[in-house]
Amino acid sequence: MSISKAVNSKVTSQNTIEERLQIQRLVEATKVVTSTAGTDVVRGLTQASKTLPAYYFYDDRGSELFEEICELPEYYLTRTETAILQKYASEIAKITGSCELVELGSGSSTKTRILLDAYQHLGYPLHYLPIDVSAGMLENSARQLLVDYPKLQVYALAGTYEMALAQLPATQLPSRMIGFIGSSLGNLNAQECDIFFSQITNALQPGEYFLLGIDLHKSKEILEPAYNDSQGVTAAFNINILEHLNRRFEGNFDTTQFEHWSFYNETERRIEMHLRSLRSQTVQLKALNLTVNFAAGESILTEISRKFDLKQIQQQLTARGLVPVHTWTDSNQWFGLLLCQLQG
Ligand code: AVI
Repeated sequence: MSISKAVNSKVTSQNTIEERLQIQRLVEATKVVTSTAGTDVVRGLTQASKTLPAYYFYDDRGSELFEEICELPEYYLTRTETAILQKYASEIAKITGSCELVELGSGSSTKTRILLDAYQHLGYPLHYLPIDVSAGMLENSARQLLVDYPKLQVYALAGTYEMALAQLPATQLPSRMIGFIGSSLGNLNAQECDIFFSQITNALQPGEYFLLGIDLHKSKEILEPAYNDSQGVTAAFNINILEHLNRRFEGNFDTTQFEHWSFYNETERRIEMHLRSLRSQTVQLKALNLTVNFAAGESILTEISRKFDLKQIQQQLTARGLVPVHTWTDSNQWFGLLLCQLQG
């Protein structure tokens, strides 16, 4: 993969958006996703304890609902992490110096602006590589950023993290920082987390940075309402996964016959989100040639959201060679932002 002339040439505020934007669609990733589409659904729904992969939440409607969740009074995660970033972004930029920003699961890139402002304020060039599976979302938010930051260069990668991290072009700046904020790490189980850390270490050169935002363990009185809000947005987000499966795999889930159920599993230190069947029923997904029987009260685990212990995660990262050089939290210690550096 090579970076074209527009990116190599000197960027001034005169450069057009087209000259400052490149989008790389990771065709191979799409092929992999297409050829295996639905096998994970079949696997999840034919297990003794039914599950669904959480990425099926994020069709267009699901992505909109997630943006709404981030604004909910009970969902403290987004505003707490945003406040930490606002307070410490310039410290982050001073520690890393001039560097290229890579963001995993960039979505609407809202929090990215805080970092871009900090690097811009220090007079550093702005090179941003957002990575997201949704090419549409990637392009829209990149274009908006390019309007607002006239010297920004964007090299967007549409694909899975795995493919994108394996294909990052060489950076033209002195360093690189891969950001994984929003506590999305919490949606991976321990084994997936381990694989993910290997992908990060493989994508970085010694001395380069990894910025990780994680939700911390806290009382269930705070955690449970964040995943069971009074306006029912999280419930709609959870139910929407069934609508998505119906559309995508010619399914006949009756969404009125499942209910949102979430709770904090204190032993595992994770929120579990389920969809519980309100009666005994049979569902078909024609495109997958799949028939699934549900007993009344039986549930599908749709998402885990792990809550971390700061010391433990620091140790885990250090063991992987990603040494935390600085950790910031809010005054309640609800959320942590860790800046790690890959050891040589
Ligand atoms: C994307 N992820 C970090 C969210 C979380 O809090 O685990 C997803 C979410 N699910 C329900 N509400 C938010």
